[in-house]
Amino acid sequence: MLNVRKDFPILTKVHNGHQIVYFDNAATTQKPKQVIQAIVDLLENHNGNPHRGAHILSVEASKLYDDARIAVQKFINAAHSEEVVFVRNATEALNIIARSYGETHLHEGDKIVIPISEHHANLVTWQRVARVTGAKLVYMYLDETGHFTENDLAKIDSKTKIVAFAAVSNVLGMKTPIKKIIDKAHAAGAVVVLDGAQAAPHMKSDVQQWDCDFYVFSGHKMLGSAGTGVLYGKRDLLNDMEPFLLGGDMIEYVQEQTTTFNVLPFKFEAGTENVEGAVALHAAIDYLENIGFDTIEAKEHELVTRALQGLEQIPYVHIIGSTNAEEKTGVISFTIEGVHPHDVATILDSYGIAIRSGHHCAQPYGSHIGAEASNRVSFYIYNTVEEVDYFLDKLKLVRKTMGFKD
Ligand SMILES: Cc1ncc(COP(=O)(O)O)c(C=O)c1O
Repeated sequence: MLNVRKDFPILTKVHNGHQIVYFDNAATTQKPKQVIQAIVDLLENHNGNPHRGAHILSVEASKLYDDARIAVQKFINAAHSEEVVFVRNATEALNIIARSYGETHLHEGDKIVIPISEHHANLVTWQRVARVTGAKLVYMYLDETGHFTENDLAKIDSKTKIVAFAAVSNVLGMKTPIKKIIDKAHAAGAVVVLDGAQAAPHMKSDVQQWDCDFYVFSGHKMLGSAGTGVLYGKRDLLNDMEPFLLGGDMIEYVQEQTTTFNVLPFKFEAGTENVEGAVALHAAIDYLENIGFDTIEAKEHELVTRALQGLEQIPYVHIIGSTNAEEKTGVISFTIEGVHPHDVATILDSYGIAIRSGHHCAQPYGSHIGAEASNRVSFYIYNTVEEVDYFLDKLKLVRKTMGFKD
């Protein structure tokens, strides 16, 4: 039995007389002592500006930063450590791909194909590429239960230059058929951008097995700290791209009018690096790997199964997408008839339960399915079945609180 709660100091927090129940893990996860301690250790004992000094503190900071990159390389099974670029978050990684690859490699008449359910970070970015290059942004609309249809996949054709999609949707929580879509995209000659923000924390990432061209994720959604994310790209593609940010550390030689750039990955890491974030991500990876993704998936499966069963018994609750726990990680979005999602979240907060309300940064999908706003619960390794039951009990009070009879 997975028992990690003791590692997460924040979980003992009391709000409104109730111990906090944290079900907003898709937004950001809580941090174990091991991650917090890794940051403290860096700042107390090894802090220096990496790759810039001959002194011991710079050397130690550089080593910790470089070690973190190797840990990420192994975590996602990248072939080369220089294919791993540290960025601020998944959003920044997607912006780099869109600006430094999309805007320079796409032309009028080309197609960018994405699911309608994408997070704005993987959608607004492609809108601009389309606007700047004259390429067309084409959506795969999914069926009523959130599945890709053959009609959707047929949109990936010889004109398609980019296929971008989330490995797990942050609204639906459904596992995308990654390999099927990547094979189809490659057969059409397209480059694949895989958004792993909701996948990397929950399942084994294997960029070589998937054969994705780019993979991105955020450290803060997988026990790490905010401000550190990862851009993985195949070496040839990254080498073929212009740097996104210019400045210190990303240069080779600078003359008055011209500059040559540093090698990968430094070409994309201008300015002083976030060593705290890299160290935190390394500690988070160690923590997750120590548990193992089989155990993590089994735990989330137990929680999501229980929650789905409970939610399905409440007649005025509507679950968005599939209700088959096998197809999901630990994310469930839903609406309650007659109650605005913001009211649902506020009422649950009064019982110490933290859930998400709003459009989940996926407004086109909300419009498409006619649910501009919804609620979302998202589980992680430290959540318990007892917490799920407590949430279901309190959820049943929401409509009464709003003046409904049942
Ligand atoms: C699927 C998906 N992609 C991208 C992002 C953006 O992540 P970040 O805000 O850490 O950049 C999120 C965040 O919720 C997400 O769920």
